[in-house]
Amino acid sequence: MIGAQWGDEGKGKITDLLSKSADVVVRYQGGVNAGHTLVVQQTFKLHLIPSGILYPGTQCVIGNGTVIDPQVLLREIDQLEALEISTKNLKISENAHVTMPYHRLIDQASEAHRGTHKIGTTKRGIGPTYADKSERTGIRVIDLMEPETLRKQLRWTINYKNVILEKLYALPPLDPEAAIAEYLEYAERLRPYVADCGLLLDEAIQQRRNILFEGAQGTLLDLDHGTYPYVTSSNPVAGGACVGAGVGPTTIDRALGVAKAYTTRVGEGPFPTELLGDVGKMLGARGAEFGTTTGRQRRCGWFDAAIGRYAVRINGLDCLAITKLDVLDSLEEIKVCVAYELDGQRCEYFPRSTRKLARCQPIYETLPGWQRSTTDCRSLADLPGAALDYLKFLAELMAVPIAIVSVGAKREQTIIIEDPIHGPKRALLSANVSPVDVNQEVKR
Ligand code: GDP
Ligand code: IMO
Ligand code: MG
Repeated sequence: MIGAQWGDEGKGKITDLLSKSADVVVRYQGGVNAGHTLVVQQTFKLHLIPSGILYPGTQCVIGNGTVIDPQVLLREIDQLEALEISTKNLKISENAHVTMPYHRLIDQASEAHRGTHKIGTTKRGIGPTYADKSERTGIRVIDLMEPETLRKQLRWTINYKNVILEKLYALPPLDPEAAIAEYLEYAERLRPYVADCGLLLDEAIQQRRNILFEGAQGTLLDLDHGTYPYVTSSNPVAGGACVGAGVGPTTIDRALGVAKAYTTRVGEGPFPTELLGDVGKMLGARGAEFGTTTGRQRRCGWFDAAIGRYAVRINGLDCLAITKLDVLDSLEEIKVCVAYELDGQRCEYFPRSTRKLARCQPIYETLPGWQRSTTDCRSLADLPGAALDYLKFLAELMAVPIAIVSVGAKREQTIIIEDPIHGPKRALLSANVSPVDVNQEVKR
């Protein structure tokens, strides 16, 4: 399950729903830049722990492709335990890389240094942690587990990073011994969770258990396939699941994309369908579009089918979950970007050059709104005709079926058209669709 736009599509809610029929849920990339909100009796905000954690029987895995900030992870574990939600089924890959204090400092300082070239990062040290992984100066969970290794590595690395902090950014140096003491404490608390997660997943595959790979961020924030340089430093696309979890591509059966019924983006970078006026403000207010991690206001715009088609292609999507349909409830008319105009020519595809994308003008088709609340709809038959037409239009534009429609933040505010884990591949809204009750047990 991946984000099909620029993140915050409502992946947390959809993962929580799908986790009911999953035996294992795996986060395979990203770090505490992610913010996934789940509304189940109360509101949970998760950054690193897979959204399957609310189900007591579900194994949750933080894979090798993630970057782990132990301070934030331990806080998250404590918060869940305080609410009597057990984390005993949580496992952390020993190969995941660890975010260190200098990563956070360098992320913040480099954003300030970039001035008008800034990315608008979450300042959680994500980019610098992945940069060290590539540069081969990173510290992994397994290194954290060996006190002598950690001491040696951190002494060397902090002395090296202090040169950057002091000389490049004019910041005070870090004390290696203080960082060692701090991280050795984290290590002891994390030790019971650490495992060879590739092996663990292989056992689950051999036993033919259901594994759900939960992407963080979204397709357009992908380091390779997103709107570079305005991206995150990992691979949120479906292909990233294999690398970031240590499983082969033949083990993955289906790919589900999550997209909002409109578009949002946090941080810098081009956004062709952005609405800077009243409609954008209304979407932001109704959709409560404030970042879960940083509290920043999200930029809002119309649904962009060029992005949708691109996400279908890059991720090989079988089906879609469309979220936040209810946010459009009050609109008289709704626009959908069906293609772009680029340098005077019609352009059907999503351009790979971010500079070209910045020159794209959306070509819209306008659909009538439904001006009725959808928040109590639980089946396709409950939806106003215009809402159904809107969904059909999106599915046609992207040429993939819609499996789930979300009409509110709560677990029950969902229309399941087809169970994306077990259901047969079937065209959206075809004549014989019989919506399945979300609370129905769909375990194999
Ligand atoms: P994620 O990062 O993809 O997990 O998404 P976020 O949790 O950051 O942002 C999605 C926000 O929308 C959260 O506050 C959810 O509670 C909320 N949400 C999810 N689905 C719906 C929906 O269908 N309608 C409304 N109104 N809110 C939703
Ligand atoms: P979830 O999982 C939305 C954005 C940041 C910035 C860019 C790079 O909740 O969908 P980073 O700190 O990763 O180096 O920032 O990526 N970004 C997100 N935007 N949702 C997220 O996660 C994001 N994680 C990072 O705003 O533009
Ligand atoms: Mg989010």
